[in-house]
Amino acid sequence: MVDTRLLVLFALLQIMCFPFHEVSAATCHVSGVIRGKGRNCNRENGLDSCCIAGKHYPQFRCSPPVSAKTPAILTVNRFDNGADHVTRITSCDMRFHRDKELVVILSSGWLRLDGTNRCNKKIRVHANGRSVLAKVVDECDSVHGCKEENDFEPPCRNNVLNASPAVWKALRLNQTIGELKVTWSDV
Ligand SMILES: *[C@@H]1O[C@H](CO)[C@@H](O)[C@H](O)[C@H]1NC(C)=O
Repeated sequence: MVDTRLLVLFALLQIMCFPFHEVSAATCHVSGVIRGKGRNCNRENGLDSCCIAGKHYPQFRCSPPVSAKTPAILTVNRFDNGADHVTRITSCDMRFHRDKELVVILSSGWLRLDGTNRCNKKIRVHANGRSVLAKVVDECDSVHGCKEENDFEPPCRNNVLNASPAVWKALRLNQTIGELKVTWSDV
C-alpha cells in the first residue's frame, strides 16, 4: 500500500521545485552524445579535426543565454582561398562569401534553435577594446557530427562564433591565435 503521507510530501516537493524547473529551462545542458567511428577520415585540412573512433562528443540543441555581453569562443573561418576559389555556400543566404566580408557563423542554439532566428541579422562582436558589426550567414552545427555529410568532424561547441578573417582584422586580432574568448550582442 502507498502511504498517503508520502504522496502528499511528493506533491509538496513538486510544487516547491516548480520555480527551479523554470530556472533550469533557461540554462543549456548537453542533449546527447555522438560516438566517433573514425572511418574515412582523410581530409586535406588535417586529421586533428576529425572524429576519433570510440570517443564521445557532446551534442547541444541550445547555447548559453544571450545578453549584452554574451561570452563566446571566437574562431577563424576561411571563406575563400585567397584567390578566385570560394569554398562553400552558406545556409542562411545561399551565397558564397569572401574572407574580406564581415561575416560570422553561429552555434546552432544561437543561430535559431533557442527561438531567435539570427540568420542574415547583424551582431556586434566585442574584443580587444574594440567592436565590429558582422552578418550571421551560417550555422556551426552543434547537434550533428562525425558522419560523412559533416566531413567526419565533431559537432560544434555550443558557444562558438566562427568569424571571417575580416572580423579578426577589424578587431586588430592576430588569426594565428586560432581561438579567443570574446563577447557579442544582438544589434
Ligand atoms: C601573428 O602572430 C604570428 C606568430 O606569433 C607572427 O609571426 C605574425 O607576424 C603575426 N602577424 C601580425 C600581422 O602581427
